[in-house]
Amino acid sequence: MRISRRRLAGQRVIVTGASSGVGRATALELARRGAHVLATARRTERLEQLAAAPTGGGRIIHEAGDICDPAFRVQLVAAATDRLGGLDAVVAAAGGGAIGRFRDLTADTFARIIDLDLVAPAELVRQSLPDLAASDDPIVVFVGSILALHPLPLHGEYCAAKAALRSLAGTLRMELAADGIDVLLVNLGPTASEFWDALVVGQRPPWSRGRRMPAERAAAAIADGMERRRREITPGWQARGFAIAARFLPGLIDLLAGRHLRTTVDADPARKKP
Ligand SMILES: NC(=O)c1ccc[n+]([C@@H]2O[C@H](COP(=O)([O-])OP(=O)(O)OC[C@H]3O[C@@H](n4cnc5c(N)ncnc54)[C@H](OP(=O)(O)O)[C@@H]3O)[C@@H](O)[C@H]2O)c1
Repeated sequence: MRISRRRLAGQRVIVTGASSGVGRATALELARRGAHVLATARRTERLEQLAAAPTGGGRIIHEAGDICDPAFRVQLVAAATDRLGGLDAVVAAAGGGAIGRFRDLTADTFARIIDLDLVAPAELVRQSLPDLAASDDPIVVFVGSILALHPLPLHGEYCAAKAALRSLAGTLRMELAADGIDVLLVNLGPTASEFWDALVVGQRPPWSRGRRMPAERAAAAIADGMERRRREITPGWQARGFAIAARFLPGLIDLLAGRHLRTTVDADPARKKP
């Protein structure tokens, strides 16, 4: 086990979800610290803007595509080895949510969220393993959610995907240790991004408009976690408060969330069905 800080300068990193929010901020932060980033998402023009941003350190190149497409994942990893000369890190930040009661949503929504938030990051990492194993100091970063620590209503699909991703991160951490590949799980709390505007299904709920951590702060915490070889981080006081409540007061979360569901969501006829 290595104890010295990971040197990000010169690392070759794939960052998914890099067209907005946490993924974009992380791509920039890593490049500022000297990493060479292959940024990916579907929106090409956003990636072009990102690649043109001054970093003062590493370079950012891009490859646009749908991370849920298995062929694109193969193409992405091949692009990293061709264009960056290898692969030292994968930061799986692409993701999205759906809002609605499980009974009101569909099997298609369930499959889409599981595909985006669980299958895509997992299979991208599987695809990357041969190249990561050849790196001097490799790492996989999964951007998860505090909702993996305790679920909330109206997020059933998303909570299930992020909880499974957290579990997989734990398995991979043990399995990949023999190859020297670190695994960092990020339990992200409320963060300023386009998340609520990009819901796969459902409308933005009122509680999403509260205080949120800037994406740049989340990105700095992710880069610090990579450097310090952390296994799991929960950035920000809101996220940490939720993590403590999830561990010690899960019944209280259920009580408050259930009351909120009855008094706010169920009381609003427009919100009964997404
Ligand atoms: N914001 C929060 O409060 C919060 C809290 C906990 C966890 N998270 C997690 O943080 C991560 C980043 O989300 P964010 O908050 O930064 O949201 P965001 O601003 O909406 O960013 C999501 C990113 O994922 C990309 N993406 C979505 N579907 C894709 C697909 N099929 N193929 C390729 N790329 C795709 C989007 O790019 P394109 O649309 O251009 O493809 C975008 O770059 C997600 O995993 C999310 O679950 C967020």
